[in-house]
Amino acid sequence: MPHYLPLSRVARLVGQPRSEIQRMIHDDELSTFDGMVDMDELLRVFPDITWEDDGEFRRVQEIKEKAFGKRIYERALPDKEVLAERLFELGKEFAAAKTLLRHYSEVVRFLDDKLDDVSDTGGAATLNAVAGLKQWLKRELKTALDENPDAARVEALLAQESVLRIMSVQVTVQPSGHEFFVEGNDTVLEAALRAGIPLNYGCSNGNCGDCKVRLVSGQIKKVHPHDYTLKEAEKANGDFLMCSYTPVTDLVIEACVAGADDIPLQSVPAKVKAVEILNEHIAALHLLAPRSQRLRFLAGQYVTLSADGAEGDYYVASCPCEDRHIELHVRRDSRPFARRVFESLGKEDPVRIEGPHGKFVIKLDSRRAVIFVAWGDAFAPIKSLIEHAMSLEVAETMHLYWIDDGLGLYQDNLCRAWADAYDNFSYQPLNHASGMEALAESILARHSSLAHSDIYAAGPANLLAALQSGALARGLSPLGWHGEIL
Ligand code: FES
Repeated sequence: MPHYLPLSRVARLVGQPRSEIQRMIHDDELSTFDGMVDMDELLRVFPDITWEDDGEFRRVQEIKEKAFGKRIYERALPDKEVLAERLFELGKEFAAAKTLLRHYSEVVRFLDDKLDDVSDTGGAATLNAVAGLKQWLKRELKTALDENPDAARVEALLAQESVLRIMSVQVTVQPSGHEFFVEGNDTVLEAALRAGIPLNYGCSNGNCGDCKVRLVSGQIKKVHPHDYTLKEAEKANGDFLMCSYTPVTDLVIEACVAGADDIPLQSVPAKVKAVEILNEHIAALHLLAPRSQRLRFLAGQYVTLSADGAEGDYYVASCPCEDRHIELHVRRDSRPFARRVFESLGKEDPVRIEGPHGKFVIKLDSRRAVIFVAWGDAFAPIKSLIEHAMSLEVAETMHLYWIDDGLGLYQDNLCRAWADAYDNFSYQPLNHASGMEALAESILARHSSLAHSDIYAAGPANLLAALQSGALARGLSPLGWHGEIL
């Protein structure tokens, strides 16, 4: 009986990024049926995966989490009622499989009796033919049960997949096709945001109705009460609030993925979590938004910060998937807000965040190679974009070029950790000693073709102009160019 798995689960089972699985499908190395991978095909392409590979999967996850260098949520078991419902659902599948097997064994017994009847009434030739057929049938059934060398591995993989399905369930968003996993006690909304998928929401606590989506298939369970009342027509349509429900089974939901124009301007009263001096020129300001008023933004956008009358615009350096935590890089200069950060701002001090602004955001549906170029402290939006791309696992490969403008590559270790943790990520530090044309040339010359790439570059206008014209001349599509002058 074929057993099909969705791509995200395949990626988890074999410990590879989803983008790598997509590349293999694209290059015809792995075949799919209706977007799913058959278990036998999986074993053909990954002959060495075993149950023990779960340890490897966890190891890779740990390296990645360390590389992110930030709070990654605790891997918790789902709530016991959710767990019970998931086990019940799995039990139903198990019962259905048992019923089917019982039916098949009845069919085999019936066939056996019928063959005996034919033998009794036929001549010697019929007797021989029936004996041969019965022997073949017995041999095939025995082989399927005892001698199939892949049987044990298929069983182990099925068992592993069942555990994954109990611990975490998959949500597919239509029509965008994004997929994410819900783990522990997360609501659908929390899991979507952790995965970096910008679905629409407002209060996060059941009051505004902005997170309402349609359930296309699957089962959900209410885990938080909500005051927002759904109309009868909405309930009949299958609508539910993502901030109040968790999935019991894999889900398909219908929801809009927000672009830069869909996110409203907000004013968020945050608090300083820490001021981290990265080097003598740059400080990382870590802010924490209130639980009831998280900042909605897309990677690559900037905000206006104000504290005690001092104000300044800064790009967010963290991923929107980091929940309430927001990181910004502040350069030591004469601007009042920068002076405030370096001279007096401390833990728990209030900082108001207004925004987000800007359209230097990642294309969420692009599966192409991505080249990131950052000049000096223009690394902040690039870091946010990279972390977002990593959490979405969409890009085929990622290449980062960070040019030292004299302020130092103040998070060089983080970039090296990314390169260590991700097979599809490369990092090249550069310095600004050569002119802009030469710098652009030294970056572009490392790529034989740019026809299937996207470039995200942040820095001075003359560097961006040199990069853009050089990249277009090398086959980059105009739609693949994303530049932010800083
Ligand atoms: S975000 Fe407001 S009800 Fe869910």
